[in-house]
Amino acid sequence: MGVTAQRINPSILSADFVNLQAELEAIRTADLVHVDVMDNHFVPNLTMGPPIVERIQAVSPIPLDMHLMISDADRWAPGYAEMGAFSVTFHVEASTDPVALARKIRDIGARAGIALKPGTDPEPYLELLPEFDQVLVMTVEPGFGGQSFMPDMMPKLRRFAEARAKHGLDVWLQVDGGITVDTIGIAAEAGADTFVAGSAVYGGVPEERIADLRVAAAQHAH
Ligand code: DX5
Ligand code: ZN
Repeated sequence: MGVTAQRINPSILSADFVNLQAELEAIRTADLVHVDVMDNHFVPNLTMGPPIVERIQAVSPIPLDMHLMISDADRWAPGYAEMGAFSVTFHVEASTDPVALARKIRDIGARAGIALKPGTDPEPYLELLPEFDQVLVMTVEPGFGGQSFMPDMMPKLRRFAEARAKHGLDVWLQVDGGITVDTIGIAAEAGADTFVAGSAVYGGVPEERIADLRVAAAQHAH
């Protein structure tokens, strides 16, 4: 067991959308609330956009970790930083210039993150790591909660962990999709320090599920 800080970020995609304020209160022992924005274009599902995220930002007891699964990230991502989100992660597949966009997000005052779909090659981004505050390695195809964890994404995670060590950086490595008490250790072992969990948290008593995930992750911390 190491000393690396670990973060548990519940995804409100699995929350009850008509009781969002209560669902946010229920995860106040977590580190950040993971907010999935989908546009039915970049992914085949539709969730929420700026008006709802603004209200979440206003009432959430913990900071917002935005995950933008939307096309034309260059146009839309800065707006979420302006709303006061703690971190804004966009997909590299949806940006024409990830470095320029990350700089814009950082200038506004949020942490800038890139996300990679399962089929996306990490190599072009390894040398660019100093430009980002966090990297999200998707462990399912983005679009839906409740899918199975893809262990074959661990080599990609390890590549980023090696690059992080090489550059001596404090970039957070995040995993999203199929994270449960049974899979979180595999991701922690491969170098992840930030864990998104939707169905695993809201499928039970959130506070208990968050505590269980923390214990399971810490057993495998670097
Ligand atoms: C999927 C979303 C995830 C989703 C994870 O595209 O990005 O954040 O909520 O859900 P679980 O944890 O149920 O796999
Ligand atoms: Zn997500």
